[in-house]
Amino acid sequence: MEEAYRRYFGDIDYYELLKAFEPSYIENIVSQVKYFTEKEAEKRDEIVLSYFTEDDIEKIVKIIVGCILSKPAGDKLDILDIGAGSGFFTVKVAEGVWREIPGASIYAMDITPAMLSILRRKNSRITTFIGVAEDIRGSIEYANSHGLDIPGRFDAIFSTLTLHHCQDIERVFRSIDEVLKDEGIAVIIDICKHPYEEFREEMGDVHLGFDLDELRELGLKYFKNATTYVIPGVRCRESCRSIEMFSLCLTR
Ligand SMILES: C[S@@+](CC[C@H](N)C(=O)[O-])C[C@H]1O[C@@H](n2cnc3c(N)ncnc32)[C@H](O)[C@@H]1O
Repeated sequence: MEEAYRRYFGDIDYYELLKAFEPSYIENIVSQVKYFTEKEAEKRDEIVLSYFTEDDIEKIVKIIVGCILSKPAGDKLDILDIGAGSGFFTVKVAEGVWREIPGASIYAMDITPAMLSILRRKNSRITTFIGVAEDIRGSIEYANSHGLDIPGRFDAIFSTLTLHHCQDIERVFRSIDEVLKDEGIAVIIDICKHPYEEFREEMGDVHLGFDLDELRELGLKYFKNATTYVIPGVRCRESCRSIEMFSLCLTR
């Protein structure tokens, strides 16, 4: 397994992985990977710590763990983090879930291998694989065809600070719908709409945050319930700029 893993992570063919997408999407993904590999992977944890206070981080983790545990579950759950990055939140969420459900399996998907190799160094119990939020099912098929063993459906899915990097938000919702079990739950934490156009250049952002009504409406195209709220007291701070954070919860 170790050898197959090394080959898969060291030799990713984005054109093969993303063959269902149009060339402009693939080019944008390749430049996101370059940005995150060169500018963020090694220092992602420090970046997160500069954005939030300890209290903010605790609140975010509590919201995600609370959503995951709100669903009736046995002693085994399959949980997926989309755009897990270096695993800053993945590990904290995993620890929170394992306290209650020690047998839960945690999977972390991201498009940037350099991010996932940092995550693996932190906790080898979390299974990492390469993939895109816009096609989770196809990403799992690609991983499994390279010797991994990722389940096709999840009891819970979460994501932190990744949605605003995704190119096609509607496709992300459809993709979550395809891999979430019927009784499952998805929770997305990200930034509210903001005016800082320079974030596109400075941080590779694709969306300048989100309008919660628009996001909810889009969520309702694929899920029966889509609830959003601004997280009280939590803000993402970058230099002198400060942005509200939201939680979006999707269930059928
Ligand atoms: C700002 S980081 C957030 C990482 C982590 N969730 C956190 O909170 O620290 C965004 C991550 O999303 C990944 N990413 C960007 N576009 C993606 C996509 N379409 N599908 C999956 N991952 C993507 C990047 O590689 C990067 O690791």
